[in-house]
Amino acid sequence: MTVLPIRTIGDPVLRAPAEPVTQFDAELSKLVEDMIETMFDVEGVGLAAPQVGVSLRLFVYGIAGRTGEVGHVINPVLEVSEDPQEGGEGCLSVPGLSSATPRRRWARVTGVDRENRPVVVEGEGLLARCLQHETDHLDGLLYVDRLEGEDRKTMMRALRGEDFIRRTRGVAGERSGRVSSAFGAGTASVPRPGTSGSAGSAFGVPARGGNR
Ligand code: NI
Repeated sequence: MTVLPIRTIGDPVLRAPAEPVTQFDAELSKLVEDMIETMFDVEGVGLAAPQVGVSLRLFVYGIAGRTGEVGHVINPVLEVSEDPQEGGEGCLSVPGLSSATPRRRWARVTGVDRENRPVVVEGEGLLARCLQHETDHLDGLLYVDRLEGEDRKTMMRALRGEDFIRRTRGVAGERSGRVSSAFGAGTASVPRPGTSGSAGSAFGVPARGGNR
């Protein structure tokens, strides 16, 4: 299996709606395996195909590391509950940042696996957050697009900041895929009044907040 390089914000592939998968072949299987390996390599809990430069409707998830619930969903259709959940997110494609991000409490995706067999994944909390985050990637959306109010302003400032631009350039330069060093203890979180200040970074680095 191969660890793939991860595309970062600014790359047009992250903003393009991904195409449905129609070919269920050995190449697709290898992509799924490589994406799972890549996700674990960088300690993420989810990874969507556009993040590795492949504009197909496919994501992988692994909520509690290699021993936890690991899977993939192809051509997912998302349903969510009306009621919200609180919590934070980060993204491997937006290195070193995280923020409280509004999401729905419960989510379900219905799709197929790499052999075109039906798959349903549903849950609450971190899994629900992951399903919403990864499906967004397939529609060209990033979690930063979901932020509101002060959280949004703070994030937009951080994205324009020199630190972030330097860090993103560093990740983009390490095309070997060894990007985990870029997500060290210095991870900046965007604090929000009324929370612990650690928003967690579930989809970029292991959550440090209330996500686990
Ligand atoms: Ni992401």
